[in-house]
Amino acid sequence: MESDERLLALLRADEFVSGEAIAEALGITRAAVAKRVGELRKRGFAIAAAPRRGYRLDAVPDALTGDVVAPQLTTAWLGRAWRHFARVESTNDEAGAWARAGAPAGAVVVADEQTRGRGRLGRRWHSPPGASLYFSVVLRPPLPPHRVPPLTLAAGVAVAEALVQFDAAPALKWPNDVQLDGKKVAGILTEMSADLDRVHHVVIGIGVNLNVLAFPDELAAIATSLALVVGAPVARAEFAAALCARLEHWYDRFVADGAAPVVAAWKQHARFLGRRVQVSAGRERMEGVAEDLDDDGALKLRLDDGRTLRVVAGELTLGPGPASR
Ligand code: BTN
Repeated sequence: MESDERLLALLRADEFVSGEAIAEALGITRAAVAKRVGELRKRGFAIAAAPRRGYRLDAVPDALTGDVVAPQLTTAWLGRAWRHFARVESTNDEAGAWARAGAPAGAVVVADEQTRGRGRLGRRWHSPPGASLYFSVVLRPPLPPHRVPPLTLAAGVAVAEALVQFDAAPALKWPNDVQLDGKKVAGILTEMSADLDRVHHVVIGIGVNLNVLAFPDELAAIATSLALVVGAPVARAEFAAALCARLEHWYDRFVADGAAPVVAAWKQHARFLGRRVQVSAGRERMEGVAEDLDDDGALKLRLDDGRTLRVVAGELTLGPGPASR
C-alpha cells in the first residue's frame, strides 16, 4: 500500500483520530503527520483538525488515484494493481508496456487526460482533461488467441451494466460501441499480444464520456456523455469502481463458461438487431438485416439474396431501406 493509502485508511474511521495514534501507526513524527495531512488537503481531501482530538476525513476529491478508488473497489482481483497518470499519450500504451514488464492480470491504468487517445480503425479518441474515464486493463486469459474476441463484447456488457447503475439506459452497437440516446458514450479498444497458439496478454481500453458537457463540432451530433444524459455530474472514481466490478464478473464468466452467456447478455442491450444495416469491413460494404450474433459474437448478416454472412469485424450503420422483419 502506498503511504497516503495507509494514512487515509487510518483517517477513514469516520471519527477523529489523534495525531499521536497516526504517528505511531505509521512510524513517523506528529509533525510529519501534520505535513502529510497538509499535502492531502492540497490534493482536495477535506480533513478536519481539532485540538486534542486529532484529524477526521470529511470528503475525498473526485480523483482517479489508487488511494481514492481502492476503498470503493469490491473486486477480488481486477483493479487491485492500479496506476494513475495525470496525462499520457494513451492508457492502452501504458498498460501494454506494464503488461510486458510483468503486470498482474487485472492491472489497471487510468489517466485524467490522453494526448493521443486511440479508437478503432485508426481513429482518435477525444480525451479532454479531468472530465472522463480513460481506462485500460491488462488481462491474461488462459485461452487460445482465436477465442479472445468475445472479450470485447464482455467489456461492452460491463460498461452497459455500470451505466445502468448510474441511472442510464444504454444500448450496445456491434461490435464495441456503447450508446445513450442514440449517441456514442463509450468505446472499447481491445489489443492482444499473442503467439499463434498462446496469448501473452490482452489490453482492453475503455473510454467513457462521463462529465463532458460540450463536444467539438465534428462529434457534437454523434457523441454524448453520461452527465449530459442524466443531468448531473458523475463521480469518476465511483464509476471506475463499478466498471471494475462488472468487468471482473463478465471476464470470470467468459473464462468459466465461454462466450454464450456473454453474447446472451450483450443481446439484451443490443441495438440494431433485426434491423436493416450497412456493414463496412475493410474495403467491403455489405447491406442486409443484422439477424443475430452467433455464440462467438460474430454478426449474422442476412443478405437480400437470402444468403447469411458471418461478419467477425466491421463497422455497422443503420441502413436506408425498411427492415425486412
Ligand atoms: C472506439 O470506439 O473506437 C474505441 C475507443 C477506445 C478509447 C479508449 S480510452 C482508454 C484507452 N486508451 C486509448 O488510447 N484508447 C482506449
